[in-house]
Amino acid sequence: MNSRAAGRPLVLVDAAIPDAPFASLEEAAEVVRFDGDADLARLLAERGGEVAGLGVQLTTTIDRQLLTRLPALEIVADYAVGYDNVDLAAAAERGVAVTHTPDVLTEATADLTWGLILAVARRVLEGDRIVRSGVWTGWHPRQLLGMELAGATLAILGMGRIGEAVARRGMAFGMRIVYWSRSPRPEVERKLGARRLDLETVLSESDVVSVHLPLADDTRHLLDAGRLALMKSGSILVNTSRGPIVDEDALADALDAGCLMGAGLDVHEREPAIHPRLAASPRTVLLPHLGSATVETRERMAEVVARNLLAVVGGGPPTDPVPIS
Ligand code: GLV
Ligand code: GLV
Repeated sequence: MNSRAAGRPLVLVDAAIPDAPFASLEEAAEVVRFDGDADLARLLAERGGEVAGLGVQLTTTIDRQLLTRLPALEIVADYAVGYDNVDLAAAAERGVAVTHTPDVLTEATADLTWGLILAVARRVLEGDRIVRSGVWTGWHPRQLLGMELAGATLAILGMGRIGEAVARRGMAFGMRIVYWSRSPRPEVERKLGARRLDLETVLSESDVVSVHLPLADDTRHLLDAGRLALMKSGSILVNTSRGPIVDEDALADALDAGCLMGAGLDVHEREPAIHPRLAASPRTVLLPHLGSATVETRERMAEVVARNLLAVVGGGPPTDPVPIS
């Protein structure tokens, strides 16, 4: 569907996305940068009828109501691998392409996941706090004992690209790998010796559980009180995917009750709000959604956004459409 008037298509791109990769797009389209959701709303009110492409952050909600106000829209290019901020059904009905940035952020996100696993397993932040507070009295045989990772079991919930990259690192740490995933991944099973099990078994057998699922109706609060209760006593939960997959009230209860050793969370249920009991717990390591935050990855994500916008407003198919479930 292309109701574009003669002239260059109008593409709105979030100003926080790196500039450099947009040079080619600027030759083909009028690219207007917007600074935050209020500025986007203003631009849409003024020129919504002309907008052919949108390049947005994961914090910008593209819902049905917004889509109905953009009759010329051809593509929403998400600056993220996760695309739960876009109403996919509404976009599909309108014939609007939705794209994301897979692959380029896989290694960065897997690295950060391991930062959290190591920080929780070896109590890095507790140690840092003791050293800085000036109360450290020297080496002690029983101080801040953590979890030995070699020989322990690592569970991957969602064996996609990122899950696999986290599992690969786990193998290098000498861990046994189990996973729960919608589809079997035979080549990962061969390469990493990973075993696919049902969710209940995965949770009850693992020392470290790492979440790499997309947020959707069937994964919201997947880890609720009942499932968290299945986790091994003294085990660790890590989430670098989407906050609402974990019921944070239930997680805070499990941590306060001493059922889990700790949790490492890069994503949160109500970002940027942090659950007060998770913030107060000495057993949590909390990061501000940094999975893909390396200079190189953020630049490559911008390249992916730019190439998809260019492809679609140029009349071609997108290079990185979101998967159709
Ligand atoms: C970040 O959370 C992403 O989905 O890219
Ligand atoms: C997406 O879910 C990925 O694992 O890259």
